[in-house]
Amino acid sequence: MKVIDDINEIRKIDKSDMLSFCVEAPKHYTRAAKLAQNLQFEYPKPNTIVVAGMGGSGIGGDLLKDWARDRIKVPIEVCKEYSLPAFAEKKTLVIAVSYSGETEETLSVLRDALKKKCMIAGVSSGGKLHEFAEKTGFPHLLVPSGMAPRATLPYLFVPLLFTMEKLGLTSGVNEEISETVKALEQISMDNSPLKSSSENFSKKLAESILGTVPAVYGQRFYRTVAQRMKTQFNENSKNPAKWETFPELDHNEIVGWEEAMEFTKCFSAILIRDDEEPIEIRQRIEVTKNLMSRSVKKIFEVKSVGKSRLARMASIICTGDFTSVYLAILRGVDPTPVKTITALKTKLEETGFKKEVLRELAKLASK
Ligand code: F6R
Repeated sequence: MKVIDDINEIRKIDKSDMLSFCVEAPKHYTRAAKLAQNLQFEYPKPNTIVVAGMGGSGIGGDLLKDWARDRIKVPIEVCKEYSLPAFAEKKTLVIAVSYSGETEETLSVLRDALKKKCMIAGVSSGGKLHEFAEKTGFPHLLVPSGMAPRATLPYLFVPLLFTMEKLGLTSGVNEEISETVKALEQISMDNSPLKSSSENFSKKLAESILGTVPAVYGQRFYRTVAQRMKTQFNENSKNPAKWETFPELDHNEIVGWEEAMEFTKCFSAILIRDDEEPIEIRQRIEVTKNLMSRSVKKIFEVKSVGKSRLARMASIICTGDFTSVYLAILRGVDPTPVKTITALKTKLEETGFKKEVLRELAKLASK
């Protein structure tokens, strides 16, 4: 039996059971939607919105931005820096998202937001972010603890959608969630570890890209979805990967394949597709694929499922999550630990920067 089809082998490698987060994705979206109702605030409509967060916590902000691009008129910026952009002021809503509640960049932005007297909301599973929410009184949503941040995406992303609705900036989020849950139930069944690789899209894709650096190409509201697939290959599969998006990649990236020669066997490409692509995007992707196929021999497509934008985005995310875990299993690496990130955070603690931020936060909280 292939490793990828042998449940006992899978359990031996996937020690903390990352696969169960993929299988249970529909349940997590339902729970996240219920939980999001607990985020209570009475802020007026902001003139700008900043979502501050890093890695698995920040990506919810990027997904929100893609989801909202042609629906929400208030500009949304995602802040993955130590400080807020200059435009942030009293009428800016800053949503600080950190699963651990301990990420120094996000705490540093929170410090900025308090200084600038922005409207603030927080999402975390505890830690200092939660502590300062209690001390300074800004609304905060506590999400379930004890998971890998990237596995808790529904809990970090869905509350942002409901926040937009509560601010009167959009509507119909509940309907999108219901449809998303249905689409994910299908994806979860079709890609289940119990389904053999011959009839399992994610297992087949993982087998096909094994030994390569996958380049994930998104388009329109699948921009961050492509990034998410890439980061899941990094963090779950411990595999190098890259991502780009149409149409921009047609203006630089494709030239990189022109004389790829000795590199061609190192790469594969995964194109995110949709049944309702606008004609200009569809034609562009087809032409690009054709040109690329001269050097990239392994080109695959992942198609979204569902009608609503959220379902379509989440369906690709879920397929990518499954693929990244199957790729980890094929490579014999445990998908959950992110040793290098942990080591880096420990080393950075020694620099004392975070302590300084916490000292300033404590001063601001006591005012
Ligand atoms: C994802 C992951 C990282 C963290 C990032 C920020 O699983 O481990 O990308 O999300 O280092 O940490 P948090 O999410 O705790 O703010």
